[in-house]
Amino acid sequence: MSRIEQLIGAMTLSEKLGQMTMTAAPYAVTGPFVAGDLTSGIKSGAIGNLLNLYGPEIVAETQRLAVAKSRLGIPLLIGLDVIHGHRTLFPVPLAEAALFDPVLWRATARSAAREAMADGVAMTFAPMCDVCRDPRWGRMVEGPGEDPFVGAAMAAAKVVAFQGKNLDGIAACAKHFAGYGAVMAGREYASTDISERTLQEVHLPAFAAAVEAGVAAIMPAFTELGGVPMTANKELLTDYLRGQLGFNGVIISDYNAIAELIHHGVAADIAEAAALALRAGVDIDMMAGAYGSGLPIALERGLVTLAQIDAAVRRVLDLKERLGLFDDPNRGAGVESAEASAQRRALARDVAAKSVVLLKNENNVLPLQRPRRIALIGPLADAAAEMRGPWAAAAPMTGCVTVLEGLRAALPDARIDHAPGLTIDGDDTNGVAEAAALCESADAIILCVGEAAAMSGEAASRAHPHLPGRQQQLCDAVFATAGKTPVITILFSGRPLIVPALAEKSAALLAAWFCGSEAGNAIADILTGKVSPSGRSPVSWPRAVGQIPLFFGERNGGRPFNPADHYTSKYLDSENTPLFVFGHGLGYGRFVFSNLRLSASTLAENGTLTVSVDVANDGAHAAEETVFLFSHDCVATVTRPLMELQGFGKIALAPGARGTVTLTLTGAQLRFPGGGGKAVFEPGEVEILAGPAADRARLLSTSIRLVKNDGGDAG
Ligand code: NOJ
Repeated sequence: MSRIEQLIGAMTLSEKLGQMTMTAAPYAVTGPFVAGDLTSGIKSGAIGNLLNLYGPEIVAETQRLAVAKSRLGIPLLIGLDVIHGHRTLFPVPLAEAALFDPVLWRATARSAAREAMADGVAMTFAPMCDVCRDPRWGRMVEGPGEDPFVGAAMAAAKVVAFQGKNLDGIAACAKHFAGYGAVMAGREYASTDISERTLQEVHLPAFAAAVEAGVAAIMPAFTELGGVPMTANKELLTDYLRGQLGFNGVIISDYNAIAELIHHGVAADIAEAAALALRAGVDIDMMAGAYGSGLPIALERGLVTLAQIDAAVRRVLDLKERLGLFDDPNRGAGVESAEASAQRRALARDVAAKSVVLLKNENNVLPLQRPRRIALIGPLADAAAEMRGPWAAAAPMTGCVTVLEGLRAALPDARIDHAPGLTIDGDDTNGVAEAAALCESADAIILCVGEAAAMSGEAASRAHPHLPGRQQQLCDAVFATAGKTPVITILFSGRPLIVPALAEKSAALLAAWFCGSEAGNAIADILTGKVSPSGRSPVSWPRAVGQIPLFFGERNGGRPFNPADHYTSKYLDSENTPLFVFGHGLGYGRFVFSNLRLSASTLAENGTLTVSVDVANDGAHAAEETVFLFSHDCVATVTRPLMELQGFGKIALAPGARGTVTLTLTGAQLRFPGGGGKAVFEPGEVEILAGPAADRARLLSTSIRLVKNDGGDAG
């Protein structure tokens, strides 16, 4: 008999429920309450898994309690939100999405996994796979942005890299399954109601990709979907994930989510809540204490069976075994070499610089031309703690490089005068005039404004996703004083902020998101021209709150916008278009696209073809360009989005150089849910578009014919 079956045979009910329980230690606070002393629970076997614990000594001490002091000696599974780095922080996920580079997505996840392992962590609650088209929702910062193709590509890359070969890294937990990004009115924890089509087309692909990549765990969302809380959603957790996708890993509830089934109004007490979650397929109860206290009663009432409990325990023990925890509960823990830390820091700088999106650069005001006197204004210019972003894992409050520090290091001969002017969201504007006065004789003015890190992330929805506090007043004063000197604005945020006036008045505008430990150095690399910006926006930037949700993959409708026709789809008081489209991002090169071509003119469902486009850098700087590939199914039995992302690729070119980007397109990618929700592949014409952003005016286009069978030229 296997070790797992022997253990299950020897376990009491309480020990089984312990393996199905995950309790929070207080080393990080990620929920509304933390547990008290964990020692007796671990020793009795009532707590089998922990979150929010890290550090080699405390992990070893705690594992010793489980392994040496509990009756069956089962090691703990220890999880932490290693979302965008552990002690060393990489850019927040939304900023990482801007890389459009699976190689770098894997590199940061692998590096974070190693650093977390050294701290005794065996599981991360990442990747966050929630596609989101509503910047009011604070958790947009944790995800891939608005597009399902990006969501899937990023999920796969992260899972593979976190976990390594045969789980020699840390277990990944794809979350929050599913549709959390569509919370009503962008309000955190609110309900969702998503059509079957949108669920399939937009919200499920990233999870399917995570499962395909072998993800070890999945976390259901806090939210309900069309009246069924995800924590109790058997149809999606069991029938879809386990049945349809073949997922055989562990399902871990979100923090206290099982008890919250009572608030949702689908369970009368904790026993009913526990039974609903278990029957839906949830194996581990995070922080609700519902399995420990509720399942014994549910068993008595006949709401669940012992076999259901055993199946959950089996999956948890199987994960512990696959992770090697039975052989070494402290796997990977210890001190890393100085060299490993230095390499990680270098990666953090490289990736941070590449995640910055240059939204505007009028008259090539950037890169800076050896300025002698810089006025560096704004509450985010010297704000180390804010650079961490909303999920700082084990990173200390200090230690991130600020813009002021980065610029001082990069430009030792320049005089840099700095004044915050005001705080991020305070009302006191007394410092504004003094700060603006610094601009008077400066030859470069840099304005660092935006959100505090805590204004995005969990429980951080904003009904007014503009510049917070009185920062607009600071900006206005700076623009007024600057006169003809161009103002370079660096915008920090966990979402696309609504800043049309700021964008108009700034000569250069950079979306710097929250780019982590090396933020200041990376931003200085961009400002000085050491690095040409290559980030591309993974989200559309609205002009007004009323445009939300805003995304490039919308459908035409029967009366598409026509300025000459009143009775068409538009606003009376805003343009339809975003301020900056998905994929937008400038660099210091100047790219020209030409010669879009396909390897075949037809494509069958089981076929593959290549799409190539030539790219030339006509600019004066070496730079990297991103090529996006979109499709549009012109006539189908159901309406299709005007553009669907099907691929992306990068090319780095020296000044004057040219090259070719070749992307693959399969017939399978062009399937879509038909009338009954079943995937269909419909013969007919499909438009193929390629270029630098989701803007038809900037894309090259051609077309292919989808054909029934893989005959002849279907590649
Ligand atoms: C609640 C969050 O929704 C989830 O993303 C996170 O992983 C857990 N807390 C654990 O910290």
